[in-house]
Amino acid sequence: IQPNYENVSRWAANYVAARINEFNPTEEKPFILGLPTGSSPLGMYRNLIDLNKKGVVSFKNVITFNMDEYIGLPKDHPESYHSFMWNNFFNHIDIKPENVNILNGNAENPEEECARYEEKIKSLGGIDLFLGGIGPDGHIAFNEPGSALTSRTRVKTLTHDTIIANSRFFNNDVNLVPKTALTVGVGTVMDAKSVLIIVNGHNKARALRHGVEGGISQMWTISTLQMHPKSIIVCDDAATDEL
Ligand code: GLP
Repeated sequence: IQPNYENVSRWAANYVAARINEFNPTEEKPFILGLPTGSSPLGMYRNLIDLNKKGVVSFKNVITFNMDEYIGLPKDHPESYHSFMWNNFFNHIDIKPENVNILNGNAENPEEECARYEEKIKSLGGIDLFLGGIGPDGHIAFNEPGSALTSRTRVKTLTHDTIIANSRFFNNDVNLVPKTALTVGVGTVMDAKSVLIIVNGHNKARALRHGVEGGISQMWTISTLQMHPKSIIVCDDAATDEL
């Protein structure tokens, strides 16, 4: 628990940099990093860019996999997770473009795209560190309430709550928000060797309570991490309001 968002962001960035440096990745043995979008990780990305520029951490031998992507938004749409990641992170660090993996929300065959993604993660030996945020309904990636806790990468229909929550990025117009997305599964996140979740703000307090103090439930998919041997939640004071 950190006093505020700036401290959360700095803590998360330092943690990520330390894990990468400790791993000491090479071209033959890259570090596999799972990444989220959303406003929660923005501060961490800003801090990581800074650490990269200062030479504290390099992403040259880091391979990334993003958690999710909307279905049907053009790749270069300003709200696609593809645009989000390049604008807020990848364009500003020393990562090799070929090491960036983001689900293709315009794939002709979405099921095949999801299977290919899972296969690629597996072929690289799995995710070393999966970073994430949560929705106000406790979803991790786009694993909405009711998602099977063993779920893998797949197509998911977004709940009305999530469509409303995300409409703030689409001129507050729910009609402009995509209704489906591709997302890694709860099982995919659970398979990662370690997980770090960023939770900030009072509007996440209920989700944090269910995730940490509630039972493990498919209705609050973040709660599954109670079973993960190496998972951390870094949060601000406001997010603990209901603990
Ligand atoms: C979306 C993303 C999630 C993210 C959530 C919360 O639904 N698919 O991965 O955790 O938004 O976003 P924010 O951090 O902006 O509250």
